[in-house]
Amino acid sequence: MRLGITFEDVLLVPKRSSIQSRKEVDLRSSLTKRITLNIPFITANMDTVTESRTAIAIAREGGIGIIHRFMSIEDEVREVEKVKRAEQFIIDDPYTIGPKATLGEALEVMHEKGVTSLMVVNTHRELQGILTRRDTHLESDLTKLVRELMTPREKLVTGKRGLSMAEAISLLRTHRLEKLPLVDPDGKLAGLITSRDIYQIKKHSLAAENDKGQLIVGAAIGIQKDWQTRARALLKAGADVLVLDVAHGHLEAVLKVIKQFKKTFIGSDIIAGNVATSEATADLIKAGADGIKVGVGPGSTCITRIVAGAGVPQLTAIFDCAKAAKTKIGCNVPLIADGGLRFTGDITKALAAGASTVMSGFIFSGTDETPGSTTLRNGQKYKIYRGMASLGAGLGRSARELRAEDEIDGLYAETAEGVEALVPYRGTLAEALRPFVGGLRSGMSYCGARTIAELHKKAEFIRITGASQRESGSHDVIKV
Ligand code: XMP
Repeated sequence: MRLGITFEDVLLVPKRSSIQSRKEVDLRSSLTKRITLNIPFITANMDTVTESRTAIAIAREGGIGIIHRFMSIEDEVREVEKVKRAEQFIIDDPYTIGPKATLGEALEVMHEKGVTSLMVVNTHRELQGILTRRDTHLESDLTKLVRELMTPREKLVTGKRGLSMAEAISLLRTHRLEKLPLVDPDGKLAGLITSRDIYQIKKHSLAAENDKGQLIVGAAIGIQKDWQTRARALLKAGADVLVLDVAHGHLEAVLKVIKQFKKTFIGSDIIAGNVATSEATADLIKAGADGIKVGVGPGSTCITRIVAGAGVPQLTAIFDCAKAAKTKIGCNVPLIADGGLRFTGDITKALAAGASTVMSGFIFSGTDETPGSTTLRNGQKYKIYRGMASLGAGLGRSARELRAEDEIDGLYAETAEGVEALVPYRGTLAEALRPFVGGLRSGMSYCGARTIAELHKKAEFIRITGASQRESGSHDVIKV
């Protein structure tokens, strides 16, 4: 019988290094064969971790968020759209309203789309004005018409289609504008530029973006009957990659879905999982997967290994899957090490073992951007973090009438395989992420690796004992 090991069982042996500063370390890495991230971090597709706010925050840092699938197709599409609109330099298709609509109708559109302004256009799409929060928030008469409240066209500064970022900044600065509508010579609305988007673009130089300057985002799908409808809608909304989210990813049904996906949605990427063996990895790659999610049971809220007795310790799982992903002729499908990451050093170990990126729920749980509000207990702020196969998540989903579908995909049965937990509130996602990025840079420089590809080649692991583990943490002192 083989012995399975995990992060705490090993250390990385320090190597000769020419790296002088941790800043020299390049953290770019492949998410799929086609998509590269600027930092190798992914927020987990869990309902207490990733919706649009988390996805926006992690993409701004250079990683990617995967929107969870435990909501209706329309809701998941809306979450993807929110990320796509978060900081485009030019919004090609801004949300609009007619001048004869009422304030009540306008507020409803603003609320539904999550925006604070609407372009007012007539039936020929000619710009008539803008309705912003400034025009609406002190008005209590919801029957008033948009045209009575809007800032009219003649008072607006506008730009021409195709203007450069520098021209846009100059107009926004000179006229102290928040919004700059773009108008064609015939008066038709051609787009919108907002000062907030430009600020965000300049502030986040590492942001992970597509070639249109939109933040990238992934979205999860399952293997239920309607998976194709969901996949098509999410790709149309702009999802850069889909994640086939199945707790036991080495199912024949999963292989079938991947094959069908690659035939139907040519040119689109699909990450598949979760798996923990080289056989499963080889099968998923053969079926056409563009990335593999590795991890059966290592997650902080997972009890699959206790309930089902199945799983593989995470470091061994990564080693085994990496062997299959690298040796398959002609391809080098990237692996995502998913779950079980607790300490900053675990990230370096997961990557050194052969993963290209890491996915975590735990690291990001408790941050401002995750879904759900904070609760107070004994004067300390907490947020809820729960396994997707926990009783709580099951009940939440059944309330959203998805239980029947879940049973079809055999993913999360009656027996809970996850727990529901409180995690301390951790501030913003960017703050919570910082030590993990710093720890990774440090770990890579100890290994003498300037890039993740170099880390894969140079890393040398050493197994350690219980005594060494105790030596590794702070010991024999009273911590202050
Ligand atoms: P961390 O350690 O970051 O792990 O909390 C997140 C990953 O855990 C997986 N996941 C589950 N696994 N039962 C499980 O056995 C569950 O209820 C459950 N919910 C999430 C998932 O892969 C996630 O990314």
